[in-house]
Amino acid sequence: MKIVHTIEELRSQLRGQLRTAFVPTMGNLHEGHLSLMRLAARHGDPVVASIFVNRLQFGPHEDFDRYPRTLAEDAAKLEKEGVYVLFAPDEREMYPEPQDYRIRPPEDLGDILEGEFRPGFFVGVTTVVMKLFQCVGPQVAVFGKKDYQQQMIIRRMCQQFAMPTQILSAETVRDADGLALSSRNGYLSEQERAEAPRLYATLQQVRQRVLDAQSGLGLRLEDLLELEQAGRQVLSTRGWQPDYLSVRRQRNLGLPTNEDLQAREPLVVVAAAKLGKTRLIDNLEI
Ligand code: PAF
Repeated sequence: MKIVHTIEELRSQLRGQLRTAFVPTMGNLHEGHLSLMRLAARHGDPVVASIFVNRLQFGPHEDFDRYPRTLAEDAAKLEKEGVYVLFAPDEREMYPEPQDYRIRPPEDLGDILEGEFRPGFFVGVTTVVMKLFQCVGPQVAVFGKKDYQQQMIIRRMCQQFAMPTQILSAETVRDADGLALSSRNGYLSEQERAEAPRLYATLQQVRQRVLDAQSGLGLRLEDLLELEQAGRQVLSTRGWQPDYLSVRRQRNLGLPTNEDLQAREPLVVVAAAKLGKTRLIDNLEI
């Protein structure tokens, strides 16, 4: 595997490649990331990974400084997966001057849920992804479904800008107790780690109640809002601080209407909550 740090080296390594499959990451790689590499390898060749902790997508009081940086260990894992090139630029390479041109996702998708609680997050994500795509020129790029809203926003961006990159979504990888793998799980204390699977368990409960209601008398919007409220309550009473727990339409993350519910529109329950100082997100399709 070649490790390159500049855009020029990256381009020269990839010259003439027509089926590049790309997996952008912020490093501190776990099995979830490695599953993205494997999906990429099934859809393209060569596989290119990037590791870049993108300052633009962190808010002023978020964890940019303490985000784990483990390049040597990450490179060893990628090498084992057969990744062809690892692009690991520093900040000066990615942002040699202030990044004044930015991509702004539409408000109805970019300013809700994660976008509401992390203002500027999706502008930072789409801007860096656009720039990374310009550097790599991938035919295929893989994102994890754990960041449900992110993969949707990036897919729409590619459609709207007629970009030649197909976006693939990979299923969330979980620990045996259900906790979705995330680099931020490393921040959890032992006690918090024992509590953390509660987030997924709560999503499973909400999903089950939606399915039960649908197969019984039917589900109305007010029932859904009650289910959401009950889910948030479960988390709060166990010491979590939920940002949101909400059942949305799978196709655009909008609030379902009674007509949607009647028509059995595919739904997804999405949640973000803080456990101590660590903010975890998860989702479950219904
Ligand atoms: O999901 C991530 O790790 C990041 O948001 C991404 C897509 C690599 C952009 O920095």
